[in-house]
Amino acid sequence: MSALALAPAPAFAPEPTTLDLPTLRFITCGSVDDGKSTLIGRLLYERRLIPDDLLATLRRDSLRHGTDGDNIDYALLVDGLEAEREQGITIDVAWRYFATQTRSFMVADTPGHEQYTRNMATGASQADCAVVLVDARKGILRQTRRHAAIVAMMGVRHVILAVNKIDLVDYDAGVFNAIAAEFAAFAERLGLEGVVALPVAARFGDNMSAKGNKLSWFEGPTLIEALENVSLTSAAATLPFRMWVQWVNRPDLNFRGLAGTVASGSVKVGDSVVMAPSGASARISRIHTADGDLARAVAGDAVSFVLDHEIDAARGDLIAQPESRPQVADQFAAHLIWMSADKLLPGRSYLMKIGSRLVPASVTAIRRRIDVDTLEPLAAATLDLNEMGVCNLSTSVPVSFDAYADNHGTGAFILIDRETNVTAAAGMIDFALRRATNVHRQALVINKAERAALKRQKPVILWFTGLSGSGKSTIANLVEARLHGLGAHTALLDGDNMRHGLNRNLGFTNADRVENIRRVGEVAKLMVEAGLIPLCSFISPFKADRDMVRALMEPEEFIEIYIETSLEACIARDTKGLYKRALAGEIKNFTGIDQPYEAPEAAELVLATEGASAEVLADRVVEALMTRGVLIRG
Ligand code: ADX
Repeated sequence: MSALALAPAPAFAPEPTTLDLPTLRFITCGSVDDGKSTLIGRLLYERRLIPDDLLATLRRDSLRHGTDGDNIDYALLVDGLEAEREQGITIDVAWRYFATQTRSFMVADTPGHEQYTRNMATGASQADCAVVLVDARKGILRQTRRHAAIVAMMGVRHVILAVNKIDLVDYDAGVFNAIAAEFAAFAERLGLEGVVALPVAARFGDNMSAKGNKLSWFEGPTLIEALENVSLTSAAATLPFRMWVQWVNRPDLNFRGLAGTVASGSVKVGDSVVMAPSGASARISRIHTADGDLARAVAGDAVSFVLDHEIDAARGDLIAQPESRPQVADQFAAHLIWMSADKLLPGRSYLMKIGSRLVPASVTAIRRRIDVDTLEPLAAATLDLNEMGVCNLSTSVPVSFDAYADNHGTGAFILIDRETNVTAAAGMIDFALRRATNVHRQALVINKAERAALKRQKPVILWFTGLSGSGKSTIANLVEARLHGLGAHTALLDGDNMRHGLNRNLGFTNADRVENIRRVGEVAKLMVEAGLIPLCSFISPFKADRDMVRALMEPEEFIEIYIETSLEACIARDTKGLYKRALAGEIKNFTGIDQPYEAPEAAELVLATEGASAEVLADRVVEALMTRGVLIRG
């Protein structure tokens, strides 16, 4: 095999030369000093995957930098490649390949630094087997228990416990047996079945591919035998067909392909497919790949589907077959592994990446935290670095998914911190909450653009935000009157009015305000769908909620207008006499008095009312709309 076999390979791309043999993907888990790199390096060496020139370099480096006297330090091999990788492409997991007579293997090479949990979790979501490494001198550590818990949570079905550095305890059977028994008891509580435990001395090759005479007392398999014995049922291929659209490939006017890698199942030319969550459907007329067309695409294939007619499709859509659709929901229960030094904040908006889909999401409740030592469920207000828990999540728009237990490719997600862009958590969806599950959108015949064209306007939401008494409703009414005069089709949603009808059951707690804005946002969105221009006048004191409505809409469709009036001026005006009562303590939760108002930081328009008349400000709004081409007059 060529040197290429050692080069970091992108995740998901099986090396062509290993395709003919059944492939087992596995990960290794261990603390920094347990000898992960040495183990992988030794496996590659024993499988003769290290080209001669690299071996010569390695011998030289081992003498110079190695920690192992005259012996080759196999860890240098892996660590060297790792450094190379760190300068290169940013992929979370690099898979290395080796093969025996009967099977080929892909081992996730996960670096041992602090990002390790994250990379391990990424690798585990794609692995058939995990090799959990412990140092024979140290036995089962907290870290070992955490890794085993992650492995169990991520649904890795096979676990091999490798008790490494057995040479350092004089190849003692008693030490090995005690560690194996302790791990077996813990694994049983995690629901991990059929754990195989074996002793190894990775540095010297004892019990790697041959037993060696110092471990003659051990009756179990070598590491290679254990890996060869893991039963291989290629789960992905037998699951329902799924593919995330990575991008819509349109090199010229005659070709439009939906490109991605088949996540599970298979599909053939002529099959009907349906887009989730839009519900649009079509038939596959061509399956295009870099190496020519295919009649059938199966899990793992990188393809572009050409459909028999154009349907709306975009990055992040999930392609399925009409008879076995994914679920669609915006509320989930999920397992989370928290990976950020910044604690989990329930209610904060993170980005959820599921497949190629990226949507704003927040944790609405932590149902329980899981203690890795005792495995007991605990009540928790937050999750800290490396902690695990079961949480409820809510996304700003519905997403398509399967339960992680049913399909790893469509049930795993990560949460990304919106400010720092770091991966904050790995998650696995347990099930959808609420009825949204199994409700699929109907594709509609007349669309928003057609409805709007008839009204000769570009529908937008005009969102007026500001303190109570700031002048929102006054200005919104003037703007509507002017637009109406120009022939525009509008509607006005006002806080006080909505609270007499649709939102009659809501008060002014934080939770009720969030729900108030969510409902108004949905109604305004429906109005935009109908081709109207809704003007929404709400205090909407929280930035996250205004952003949530913005995220419901297309980029140009949400115009935030901040009615900037100081609290002092509002109190002085006190048109409804509410400030007086709030200041007297008669009304609780009053914005600006005992509840905060978060002023917009990037509103499309800021109207300072002190020193300007409402008429002049209304004119400014109308001008801005004309500049944006909201009214199409000709
Ligand atoms: S929001 O915060 O949820 O956006 P919304 O705009 O619907 O509020 O309603 C605000 C109106 O309700 C105010 O203009 C005021 O007339 C009335 N109101 C009554 N109690 C309160 C309160 N505690 N805080 C703010 N407004 C209140």
